[in-house]
Amino acid sequence: MKVLGINGSARKGWNTQTLVMRALEGAASMGAETELIDLYTEPLKGCLECFACKRKGNKTGGICAIRDNMRPLLEKAHDADAVIIGSPNFFGYPSAMTRAFLERFLYPLTSYKVENGKRVPPAGSRTIPAGIIFTMNASKEAYEMMGYSVSLGATKSSLEYVLGYAEQYNSYMTLQFKDYSAMDANMFDADARINRHRTQFRIDEQNCYEMGRHLVAKAQELSNL
Ligand SMILES: Cc1cc2nc3c(=O)[nH]c(=O)nc-3n(C[C@H](O)[C@H](O)[C@H](O)COP(=O)(O)O)c2cc1C
Repeated sequence: MKVLGINGSARKGWNTQTLVMRALEGAASMGAETELIDLYTEPLKGCLECFACKRKGNKTGGICAIRDNMRPLLEKAHDADAVIIGSPNFFGYPSAMTRAFLERFLYPLTSYKVENGKRVPPAGSRTIPAGIIFTMNASKEAYEMMGYSVSLGATKSSLEYVLGYAEQYNSYMTLQFKDYSAMDANMFDADARINRHRTQFRIDEQNCYEMGRHLVAKAQELSNL
């Protein structure tokens, strides 16, 4: 059982990567082999709409046909029994590299073909349980008020639609800066953020650990069907 963690934040060791790592630890505690990849090690391109994956009789096998630096990452995701993707909320959406990755991971697995009123899954596709973890400045209330539940929720819906199963976890009011006093950012209560990082963020870590365990249980359940 292989579980792939995908960090869509440029900052290693910060909120997003930490939560993805906790989720992978949860997966490992269930016996899964885990790997973490960082999407911000080099620039990645999104979908180019070449439609090679949509041509009749194509041999792409559900993997994007473009042979570039994204290809090894896509092969790993395609090979995984479950994937756990983490991204910061950037203006209501996943980060640019997370979006590039998702476009090219999900689109070749998206079927436009219907037979007897039912969608025919593309060759090479199967249910891959997915976890999506978002970290953000917003509070839970602001998440609703700003419409993030709709825009970020759409990523979860797309994962569910294409991969067959998805869970979402949100970490709110994350610690954004090491030293708030050095930043032109007095709208934040630095002490409250630091305190929250020591308390609520620990709970977020535990919840992501449980998400990792749950995704493995889901993948095991599917493999026994
Ligand atoms: C370019 C940019 C845009 C952001 N936009 C939002 C936003 O619209 N809403 C929000 O709640 N937080 C926003 N944030 C804050 C990040 O989502 C938050 O700090 C996140 O936890 C960063 O993840 P990291 O610590 O893993 O890098 C933004 C941060 C940056 C750098």
